[in-house]
Amino acid sequence: MDEQSVWLFGYGSVIYRPSFEFVESRPATLRGFARRFSQRSDDHRGTPSLPGRVVTLVAREGASVRGIAYRFDAAQAEATFVALDHRERAGYERSAVEIELDHGALASAYVYIAPRGNAWDAGDERDEDIAATILRAHGPSGSNVEYLLRLADALRSLGDRDPHVFALEAAVLAAR
Ligand code: SIN
Repeated sequence: MDEQSVWLFGYGSVIYRPSFEFVESRPATLRGFARRFSQRSDDHRGTPSLPGRVVTLVAREGASVRGIAYRFDAAQAEATFVALDHRERAGYERSAVEIELDHGALASAYVYIAPRGNAWDAGDERDEDIAATILRAHGPSGSNVEYLLRLADALRSLGDRDPHVFALEAAVLAAR
């Protein structure tokens, strides 16, 4: 890894739909956060009249999140982040964190997190209410069900036993 490298940690749709060029990707872990379907999506997985629910990260001591770290060279990074800032514009902010690369070292990385209180924050909804919304919502990027099921599959491959995501997956599959 050269000093010009820039890493991005993806933990949601960025895991299974990166939509950008990169030099390499590696499974990685971010500690101190948990994934939560608490972000309204009115531009990707829902509409303004029926916003879907997508994931953000909430700080939680002792928790950890598996994801994919993507490495860019410095020349790629600027254009990539302009595009990602647009894609993640509904409440997400780019933050700097420290991640653990599988079979490797610690690395500084960027991650898109939608903080509590942002304009799209759905707050602490019950899983059954989140699942009911996911079952109904569709947006320009596809159905909210597809977002959830693809994320759950990707997390299984990464060995992330995320109880919140898998409870929602079970609820949605049972209702279909
Ligand atoms: C991410 O995947 O890293 C951000 C959240 C999302 O776009 O689903």
